[in-house]
Amino acid sequence: MKELMNGTKWMDMDGNPIHAHGGYILFYEGYYYWYGEDRRENYYISCYRSKDLFNWEFRNHIITTESKASKIRIRTSILLKREDGKKVNLERPKVLFNEKIQKFVLWVHFENGVDYRDAACAIATCDRPDGDFIYHGHFNPYGYMSRDCTLFLDDDGTAYFVSAARDNADLHIYRLQDDYLNIASLAARGWQGEYREAPAIVKQDNIYYICTSFCTGWAPNQGKFGKASSMEGPWSVLEDFGDETTYDSQPAFIVRTENGQLLYFGDRWDGQDYFNSSYIMLPLEIMDGKMTINFFHQVMLTDTEEIIFK
Ligand code: DGJ
Repeated sequence: MKELMNGTKWMDMDGNPIHAHGGYILFYEGYYYWYGEDRRENYYISCYRSKDLFNWEFRNHIITTESKASKIRIRTSILLKREDGKKVNLERPKVLFNEKIQKFVLWVHFENGVDYRDAACAIATCDRPDGDFIYHGHFNPYGYMSRDCTLFLDDDGTAYFVSAARDNADLHIYRLQDDYLNIASLAARGWQGEYREAPAIVKQDNIYYICTSFCTGWAPNQGKFGKASSMEGPWSVLEDFGDETTYDSQPAFIVRTENGQLLYFGDRWDGQDYFNSSYIMLPLEIMDGKMTINFFHQVMLTDTEEIIFK
């Protein structure tokens, strides 16, 4: 029996704390790859992998200040350091595998490291899930601001990039081109004026569910979800999920395990000391069109590889 305590430091297999905040899990060839923010030293994004979501092997600092950078067909800025040599800010990285170009494509929120005024998205690619990614720079989709974000891959291979626009007031849903390297269209604009952050998406019984937080910096708030029968909308009015602090967390991503369990992963941020931030993993239930999470302290992996909560 392997065990994790929600809201405590989770260690990798070498006994080091896992640095994968605001992250995402991609399942690929038998492994769950966990990507997330790693703000130490000259790192930006780190990658861990696991076969069971409990034993995490550190794989690589996939984007650092020294990553190779090259432009692709979008006009971008490829700077990974500011003029004064300090770091920029890359938040909430998400990665999908693109069948057409046989590459792992990463989308992330870019800021200049001083303030949140760039409000851009950035992209990077790699031939391997955990190799050194090549950075392709940042841009504002159709000129819009783009902050907290996620990626979602539909069953037919269509991918979507979702990000907070207009100083976080609106949530934009963009359909991606078939190589995932640019935006194809602004597919929907959700909840205008409602200031939603931290989007995470899951599809169940042909309905799309997006859970988000409100906009309160590092402090947690009431999670809400909306649903639609198409990513293009119309999207429903938001409803609550979790408690008034989403159990002291902000959505990071939702995983559907190999045996079909739905798991909510949230960041439990420490606003005073970012490096003291931790994670929570909770069972996510969708029933009668409602998304529900309940809090448990312990997450356990049984000998039959079932994840149970206590
Ligand atoms: C909330 C966002 O969800 C986080 O990713 C981060 O940008 C903080 N705000 C910064 O205050």
